Amino acid sequence: MSNKENKQDISPVFKKCYAFNDANEAKQAGLYPFFKPIQRNSGTKVYIDGRELMMAGSNNYLGLANDIRLKEAAESVVEQYGTSCSGSRFMNGTLDLHEQLEVELAEFVGKEAALCYTTGYQTNLGAISAVLDKGDHVISDKYNHASIMDAIFLTTGMKRNITLHRYKHNNMEELERILKRIPKNTGKLIVTDGVFSMEGDLAELVKMRELADTYKAGIYLDEAHALGVVGKTGRGTCEHYGDNSLADLLMCTFSKSFGSIGGFISGSAEIIDYIKHTSRPLIFSASMPPANIAAARKALEIIKEEPERVHRLQEIAKKMISGFKSIGFNVGTAVTPIVPLIIGNNEKTFLFWKSLYERGIYVNPVISPGVPPKRSLIRTSFMSIHKDDELDWFLEVAEQEGKKLGII
Ligand SMILES: Cc1ncc(COP(=O)(O)O)c(C=O)c1O
Repeated sequence: MSNKENKQDISPVFKKCYAFNDANEAKQAGLYPFFKPIQRNSGTKVYIDGRELMMAGSNNYLGLANDIRLKEAAESVVEQYGTSCSGSRFMNGTLDLHEQLEVELAEFVGKEAALCYTTGYQTNLGAISAVLDKGDHVISDKYNHASIMDAIFLTTGMKRNITLHRYKHNNMEELERILKRIPKNTGKLIVTDGVFSMEGDLAELVKMRELADTYKAGIYLDEAHALGVVGKTGRGTCEHYGDNSLADLLMCTFSKSFGSIGGFISGSAEIIDYIKHTSRPLIFSASMPPANIAAARKALEIIKEEPERVHRLQEIAKKMISGFKSIGFNVGTAVTPIVPLIIGNNEKTFLFWKSLYERGIYVNPVISPGVPPKRSLIRTSFMSIHKDDELDWFLEVAEQEGKKLGII
């Protein structure tokens, strides 16, 4: 008899699942914003429940996920390579396409070598768990992405005796205090997002490099929201600060500016070779499929050839940050097209999400653990293909609905 037929006989391990009712309660209150099936994606519009909404909550920063050139590139390789690699990079799943993309990526970010994974999440798991070893210390910004934390948890479970330190967001004094306490000649890795995924601000990378050099630490930089977004030619946080040596290891995902899925880690040839031969999430999981490699390669070509997309995105970021500020929203320290509307109250956050949704605007409500408790926010994010009239309309609606709820 299955558990469903006789719930008295449920194994204790599953009891919590049957008792879980949070999602149903939110659905009944009409305040459930998650897993909304998108029926069609077209430029800045999405279609959900048969309604057209303006997308202001996507990571498709350069609008390339719908670009005809990426679609054609994806289609063009299926005939020759099929739809799956059916194996890991280590064994039967490496294509010449992976290696070509890796050479192009290394050149783009100014590193000696790059290595592709199947997702950005897996890249963090795979690269961080490979470089850290017993006795090492990892020092992480409190606002780092969940995949970085999961990478550290995985490493701790696998290798034991890894010490985790977390410093207050972008607080370089606290980072220095931590570095000072760690014994000399001990492995130390500082890990940070370049652009923080929820707050849209930048890591203090110049000071961080200075500290890393003083205390002989390495820097691991997650550029998921930075490549294609910041820097004069979209080469990310290091380009923004004008110094390509700020990070020892640099990762990025293809699921955002690159309009595809997958990720890569880049660095010196020796470190990348070591990761390639020791990274369990690389060795024990099937590789990135051909169509996605082709789409990412085409996106990289477009980013290099059309820097005007990056410039337009940066112009939109400035417009929306100053627009939201001028109508009274708290946007924290955002300087990118990720603009948080910080509310700090879960109920109001969901109510504000609902009112924007009903007015035809798609955004993402974020509560703990996505952000620290009491920092719930609406994450707005913009694309280079947004038009000024759409953006002005969003600001108008946000002002009206924000005032009704007493948020501004
Ligand atoms: C900062 C950061 N790193 C890594 C990832 C994981 O990338 P992916 O979704 O491509 O697996 C994300 C995804 O949201 C992210 O925001």
